[in-house]
Amino acid sequence: MLNTLITRARSGEKIAMLTCYDATFAKLLALAGVDVLLVGDSLGMVIQGGSNTLAVTMQDMIYHTRMVARGAPHTVIMSDMPACSYEHDRETALTNAQTLLAAGAHIVKIEGGGDMVETARYLIENGVPVCAHLGFTPQSVEKLGGYKIQGKTEESARAMLADAQAMAAVGVSMVLFEMVPAALATQITQTIQVPTIGIGAGAGCSGQVLVLQDLLGIYTGPADKAPQDYKAPRFVQNFLQQGGSVQGAVERYVHAVKEGRFPGEQHSY
Ligand code: KIV
Ligand code: NA
Repeated sequence: MLNTLITRARSGEKIAMLTCYDATFAKLLALAGVDVLLVGDSLGMVIQGGSNTLAVTMQDMIYHTRMVARGAPHTVIMSDMPACSYEHDRETALTNAQTLLAAGAHIVKIEGGGDMVETARYLIENGVPVCAHLGFTPQSVEKLGGYKIQGKTEESARAMLADAQAMAAVGVSMVLFEMVPAALATQITQTIQVPTIGIGAGAGCSGQVLVLQDLLGIYTGPADKAPQDYKAPRFVQNFLQQGGSVQGAVERYVHAVKEGRFPGEQHSY
């Protein structure tokens, strides 16, 4: 299933990806034509009401992956490896990745380049498909000093290209870019052989992802904050307003991605 998708992406079809955390939405999203369901550790915010992804555990990821797999048994499922489940040693990373595959994931996503290239290599050598998440990496939000666009300087842009090339060389199936200048994500997409997925990374990627609750316009920040104090990031679009129904909103998103109409300039950096 994953290989078919990669082949379609390589032949130029855009990949439409959305986050998903439960069986009801999984079924609906699969029907609406979403190519990949991302069981994202963004569930720490949108499901658990926290202010970042750092408290999400392997148990949480296993549970939500199982629920999504139950709802969409014929759709590609990508699961995030949560903070502290893969960064420290590769044996732990492999055991945890295999646990997510056993729960129903087809591919796991890890954040970061650099040292994570060797971790990705080890997972792939042992039969675990990997997506590398570069650019803004939410598990490092504290180190990065907040939600900031990455790759703006020449040096950081070069480093991101090098990370993407290194990840491609060890055989990752996809590279995801979050909050990266559109020009840089486009350039890297044209340089590496691996499909790229963007979120706040412009229209030049091989596919797009959004958080489902952002697409529906129903996420208003952490549970303990007033909704009026929350401002959605620039790359978010509410598809429910015009979609008319949840199903319609998701279908509109899928078509907009496939036809290259989303994201627009106003969503990009
Ligand atoms: O956890 C998540 O939802 C993600 C996407 C925002 C890429 O990693
Ligand atoms: Na994530």
